[in-house]
Amino acid sequence: MIEIAQPDDWHVHLRDGPMLGRVAGETARQFGRAIIMPNLDPPVQTTDQAVAYRDRILASLPKDSSFQPLMTLYLTDETTPAEIQRATDSGVVFGVKLYPKGATTNAESGVDRLDQMAPVLEAMEQHRMPLLIHGESTDPDCDVFDREEVFLEEWLAPMVERHAGLRVVFEHITTKSAVDYVRQAPDRVGATLTPQHLLLNRNALFAGGLRPHHYCLPVLKRERDREALLGAATSGDPHFFLGTDSAPHSRSTKESACGCAGIYSAPIALELYAQAFASVNALDRLEGFASHFGADFYGLPRHQKKRQLRPSNWTVPDSPSPDPDTPQVFWTGQDLDFRLVDEI
Ligand code: NCD
Ligand code: ZN
Repeated sequence: MIEIAQPDDWHVHLRDGPMLGRVAGETARQFGRAIIMPNLDPPVQTTDQAVAYRDRILASLPKDSSFQPLMTLYLTDETTPAEIQRATDSGVVFGVKLYPKGATTNAESGVDRLDQMAPVLEAMEQHRMPLLIHGESTDPDCDVFDREEVFLEEWLAPMVERHAGLRVVFEHITTKSAVDYVRQAPDRVGATLTPQHLLLNRNALFAGGLRPHHYCLPVLKRERDREALLGAATSGDPHFFLGTDSAPHSRSTKESACGCAGIYSAPIALELYAQAFASVNALDRLEGFASHFGADFYGLPRHQKKRQLRPSNWTVPDSPSPDPDTPQVFWTGQDLDFRLVDEI
């Protein structure tokens, strides 16, 4: 049995409407708190919208749920320093998300010129409001497997240098280059790691045929990248912490001629991380990664409550729901060696 402090998810998509009702309970069952991504359609751009979205999330959960949604704003060309001030004062907004325009699902309202953002970024430095970054170049000529490295060189590293007080989370990193950068970066820079990037390399996209449920952005990379990511997660370095990027889409929109990017891992997230850590005999490092370092980065208290994962060999059921609107869970038909013990 492994016992760790209650973990949090520092990057998750809960969606809205009927999908929110389907998925929020799964994240709340596993995690104490979660950073909620703002890429709804239309995006969550203002503090008022974030407060209203938070209310909808809480309304979708059982009354006695102790889950805390930590809200984020979607950075656009219209975001103002005054909005950053309002977000800080609200006590419900914990980060501002930067999507390069068009980089991923619902990123059309994102940013394409960082130089215009300087006043907003300065306000974020002043208020210690973290900037959460989807780090991929949107140059259509840039090879899809190189987009993270190009973004790192052209946008992220110069911005971290230029804004010397800015707190930055390089979200869902997928390459050895990103690991190497974050490892030597100042403490005000963190990175989240997803379960799929710790467990799979890009071969999984084409194993026996095209695998839409292994497609997310940034896309899976090479084995040497996966090894570097797993090395970072299990190193005990507090720059690196848990963020599932669980991103549900209906099965019909993923299994399509132009399938959506996003992997839905929430129902088995901690089991997946335990599987990855166990593969390199590093389960003793899981608590720091899953329960301590993210809270420390965001300046929030670590949970006192404990959770347990018990050894158990089981197969994630692979019979898809007959309802095409239900998202298919990641890792179906594959084995896991742990099971999260539900709270009593
Ligand atoms: C996310 C989504 O579906 O909202 N998709 C994904 O592949 N990760 C958006 C994102 O985080 O890029
Ligand atoms: Zn995401």
